[in-house]
Amino acid sequence: MSNYHIKHLEEYYQVYRKSVRNPEAFWEEIAEEHFVWRKRWDNVLSWDFSKPEIKWFEGAQLNITENCLDRHIPTRGNKTAIIFEPNDPKEEAEYITYRQLHERVCKMANVLLEKGIKKGDRVCIYLPMIPELAISVLACARIGAIHSVVFAGFSSNALATRINDSDCKLAITSDGSYRGSKTIDLKGIVDKALEACPGIENVLVAKRINSTIEMVPDRDHWLQPLLDEAYGDNVAEIMDAEDPLFILYTSGSTGRPKGMVHTTAGYMVYTAYTFKNIFQYREHDVYWCTADIGWITGHSYIVYGPLANGATTVMFEGVPSYPDYGRFWEVVQKHKVTQFYTAPTAIRALAKENLEFVEKYDLSSLKVLGSVGEPINEEAWHWYNNNVGKKNSPIVDTWWQTETGGIMISPIPYVTPTTPTYATLPFIGIQPALMDENAEEIKGNQVEGRLCIKFPWPSIARTIWGNHERYRDTYFTAYENMYFTGDGALRDAVGYYRITGRVDDVIIVSGHNLGTAPIEDSINEHPAVAESAIVGFPHDVKGNALYGYVILKETGEGRDKNNLRKEINQQITEQIGPIAKLDKIQFVSGLPKTRSGKIMRRILRKIASNDTSNLGDTSTLLNPEIVQEIMDNAL
Ligand code: PRX
Repeated sequence: MSNYHIKHLEEYYQVYRKSVRNPEAFWEEIAEEHFVWRKRWDNVLSWDFSKPEIKWFEGAQLNITENCLDRHIPTRGNKTAIIFEPNDPKEEAEYITYRQLHERVCKMANVLLEKGIKKGDRVCIYLPMIPELAISVLACARIGAIHSVVFAGFSSNALATRINDSDCKLAITSDGSYRGSKTIDLKGIVDKALEACPGIENVLVAKRINSTIEMVPDRDHWLQPLLDEAYGDNVAEIMDAEDPLFILYTSGSTGRPKGMVHTTAGYMVYTAYTFKNIFQYREHDVYWCTADIGWITGHSYIVYGPLANGATTVMFEGVPSYPDYGRFWEVVQKHKVTQFYTAPTAIRALAKENLEFVEKYDLSSLKVLGSVGEPINEEAWHWYNNNVGKKNSPIVDTWWQTETGGIMISPIPYVTPTTPTYATLPFIGIQPALMDENAEEIKGNQVEGRLCIKFPWPSIARTIWGNHERYRDTYFTAYENMYFTGDGALRDAVGYYRITGRVDDVIIVSGHNLGTAPIEDSINEHPAVAESAIVGFPHDVKGNALYGYVILKETGEGRDKNNLRKEINQQITEQIGPIAKLDKIQFVSGLPKTRSGKIMRRILRKIASNDTSNLGDTSTLLNPEIVQEIMDNAL
């Protein structure tokens, strides 16, 4: 029996038991048989969640790009590695073979070396979904530089914070990007960010929209001429198993974004293994994940997981609504996509449109449908199952996080019977636990609690860049000897897990994690604002939308409220990005606070959700009278 590819439910249980009884032996076998190493490990795993310190395959040496590229060349050199599908369907798709991808990555690696980037240096990548994005990521990995991809929808402020947090030396961007019928001036955003980033020495600029942009002498360089000059081969840097591979920022409930650090060997092994099984990937399949590489889903399941398996992975530059709502399905038909992986928010948006947009296209190539990023509601699940999968393609509702690196709880298609809204069973090697308010584990089935993981898996993040204490405090102090996910979950009668949502102040809007604190900080910077509080409320497309309660200073009180609302959203757009804009803004004279001065968000959440029948005990508030006022004026 090959433990690498699970094909039956019985096999899942067998392999699962094996992976839990003796994790070291299990992962050692997977690592040994399915990857290429420069040197074998001395020790499979050492860990201590109290520090926390987690090391997988210590002593091993490797380069992840040799696993994703070089080793495929003898057998898959002419196979398509990446299909690039542009924003505009009239522009031709690009098919990049493994041999070509290897050459392009080597050239980019040589350009980075020539610009003085060395192993361990941080490189910020701020690019649209064009091939240069995947190539830049891999080129960093090739030379041992640590990539920090920032989603190219973030504002210049957010970009600057991330560049400075990890002291990036070089940035890679493009003249601009396409987004449906619009273009975005990416280089302008970078220029503005770099006014606050003295550490950036060089900026490489890919040409995408042919706009006229300013190039700062000595700092900015057009990428293509450098690539044209570069040598097409490169000796991969030899990396230790635990050398950092990348930093990826995610929002926390408080404070600055957290730069999650993922290391090399464990991340590679786990993303490759999950990709193979959770998408049941086979040699001639065409796999498409619609995420952006700026998020963890793109890192693990557009780039590293698929390429480590020698797969064909689609990179889509566009949006689901351009030129019309049939765009996803047109791409599925055009490239005969076999696995399609998207977010519930996209499904809900498309489900609102005319069914003809789906029915027009031949979707018979599809074998597996995936969902990620937020809970998928029952209606969206059925729409996806009926109209896209034609009840023939199992849906994998994959639960995981930036911090986990890879999928943690998910059905295995054609193996695990699915139930709408349930992420079902823990993946191989994953040991979940549900915890109660007394920090005791809740055993048995038909229970609900806070979701923790009891034992390390190979792709768990190892630290927060520059702040190990925050890493410990955020994930390892709530429950002793456990990784705390920040999510609530229930386990049903058959042991299936259903994720019920965040239990902290992170709100998931259209699948994007947003912390309340940074948004409140940015609102409070508006000169007319004294204080604010943000909560989420249910939204039929975004999952959650943001509701802001704002107290004005005296100077703001006489002002036009709609103008103020616009200015507040403009402020958020500039400081964080348009994804964090508020749907509703209510001006209030006070916020409900506990006697210790903490905002009672529970009450604000209920008012925002129009669910005020049972507000619970408000007598402990410092200012109980404010609740009625807020309710009376709720939007
Ligand atoms: O609350 C969970 C939700 O998204 C959070 C992680 O967000 P992020 O780090 O941005 O990673 C998203 C892509 C992996 C989780 O804590 N989440 C993610 N997937 C699901 C989900 N909630 C319910 N069901 C899911 N399948």
